[in-house]
Amino acid sequence: MKDIEKYGEWVVVTGASSGIGREFAKELAAKGKKIVLVARTEANLQQMLEQDLDASHRIVVADLCTATGLKALTQATKELDVGLVVHSAGLAHAGAFLNGTSKTDTNLQAIHMSASVEIARVFGRRFVNRGSGGLIFVSSGFGFAPIPYAAVYGASKAFVISFGEALAVELRSKNVDVLTVIPGATKTNMAEKLAEQIDMSKVPMPHGDPRAVARAGLAALGHKDSVVPGAMNKVMALMMGLMSRRMAKGQFGKLLKSALIIQPE
Ligand SMILES: NC(=O)c1ccc[n+]([C@@H]2O[C@H](COP(=O)([O-])OP(=O)(O)OC[C@H]3O[C@@H](n4cnc5c(N)ncnc54)[C@H](OP(=O)(O)O)[C@@H]3O)[C@@H](O)[C@H]2O)c1
Repeated sequence: MKDIEKYGEWVVVTGASSGIGREFAKELAAKGKKIVLVARTEANLQQMLEQDLDASHRIVVADLCTATGLKALTQATKELDVGLVVHSAGLAHAGAFLNGTSKTDTNLQAIHMSASVEIARVFGRRFVNRGSGGLIFVSSGFGFAPIPYAAVYGASKAFVISFGEALAVELRSKNVDVLTVIPGATKTNMAEKLAEQIDMSKVPMPHGDPRAVARAGLAALGHKDSVVPGAMNKVMALMMGLMSRRMAKGQFGKLLKSALIIQPE
């Protein structure tokens, strides 16, 4: 992070009750920021506040998959000097595409794609008007290649990488830093839920620490357009860059298919 003052008095962290978002909120509070914490479940936000946050804060209980939830976030932050948004809220699902439900897939697209775009539009304009700011999007290493058996999740995360990196170029001259954080597997509630869909003993992916992801993100903000936290994940990203798309999707397809708990018909 170049200059903490650049990012205003308040920061918004979506997905702040758990995992990577929670660690971003803690790190930013330790740097003296006031935090707007956003998630759907109020009890989890309250628990996070009691256990982990000693900072001025507001909570916004909102489902960012919906236009109403996004509007609630816009309204709740209207009067605040917000200079940074970390959009970490996310959902994951693995399984054969045709075994999935429309609701799950629509929500995956909404939280990763539509919410990122709307957050960028609302806060990007505010930051240009205030003369500076930052946007952090949390993508995933699954966004680097087509991921059979997590097809919608992977595609929605590929969108986040492409969108975030494009926006970084557009907003650079406006003094707004845009960073896409691209974590590999990370020890969070999401990883625990995914373990109900994928037999992790068959997938050789070490799970990193969410705090390290948040720290790597904040260190890169203002210096880079994207960051892959962790040495192992950097090696994986490099390997995926060297592999043909054909090989990458073939390998991922084989690996995930063999590890699915509910096998495709
Ligand atoms: N964990 C991994 O292995 C991993 C790897 C790569 C990338 N990522 C990405 O990292 C980000 C954070 O994931 P995590 O692992 O920290 O997950 P997590 O521990 O499950 O936390 C997800 C957070 O998002 C909130 N959330 C979910 N849906 C929401 C919605 N519709 N509206 C508002 N808030 C919502 C959750 O609270 P509520 O449920 O109460 O709303 C929670 O605070 C995600 O974008 C994920 O795709 C994770």
